[in-house]
Amino acid sequence: MHISPHTKMSDLVQSDFELLAVLQRLKIPFGFKEKSIQTICREEGIDLNFFLNLARWYHERDFFPGETLMNHPVKWLVKYLRSTHSCYIEYHIPRIEEEIIRMESLDRSGGHNMQLMLKFFREYISEFTTHIQLEEEKIFPYILSLEENFEKETPDPEFLKTARGYTIKDFLDEHSDIEEKLVDLRNILLKYLAPPSDNCLFTNVLIEIFRLGNDLNDHTILEENVLIPQVIKLERDFHNKFPR
Ligand SMILES: [Fe+2]
Ligand SMILES: [Fe+2]
Repeated sequence: MHISPHTKMSDLVQSDFELLAVLQRLKIPFGFKEKSIQTICREEGIDLNFFLNLARWYHERDFFPGETLMNHPVKWLVKYLRSTHSCYIEYHIPRIEEEIIRMESLDRSGGHNMQLMLKFFREYISEFTTHIQLEEEKIFPYILSLEENFEKETPDPEFLKTARGYTIKDFLDEHSDIEEKLVDLRNILLKYLAPPSDNCLFTNVLIEIFRLGNDLNDHTILEENVLIPQVIKLERDFHNKFPR
């Protein structure tokens, strides 16, 4: 489907329900009626091109609009990424954990496989939470202040001090791969664990882990290929505007 400003929002979702995740993260409410993408974006205060770029990428997958996405204010992408974090922490991760707990309770094999799986997943949750916390509490606030201060006549002296002693490149170097452990988990489930009594549940957990892995992959692409390069450019412009 070719996504244009005049495409009806309901048609868009009917043709690719995976886009519901994008709508949810942009906090676009349901009840589309016959409204077009353009109308809904205007009503919800979302930049039309930002929406189109994201939706086309998720839908078509054959091009990545990195350069184009970089032309939008950095705060929009931060808002989107934050919303994605909440989805992971409040919904996806607890759901997978609950399902593993259920598998454990149904496991009559007498082995400890499911207990080990649960332990492994809880370690993953703790790593995952640390990763998200760093971005939420340190990185995103820094990025938002950078953009805000860049637009000022005179930057806030406290922020100027921070900006002169820090660069986002340091963060990129440590930006750990949070998909890796999920791939391990998937492999253990797929290759080595005998299916417990409830096969439907087992398959569903696997599907959810695959889905989360793919989604995290997209999330990391947005962070590393759009957000960070955009911030590197913003840092350069900031230091040119406010030299020592
Ligand atoms: Fe993130
Ligand atoms: Fe990240």
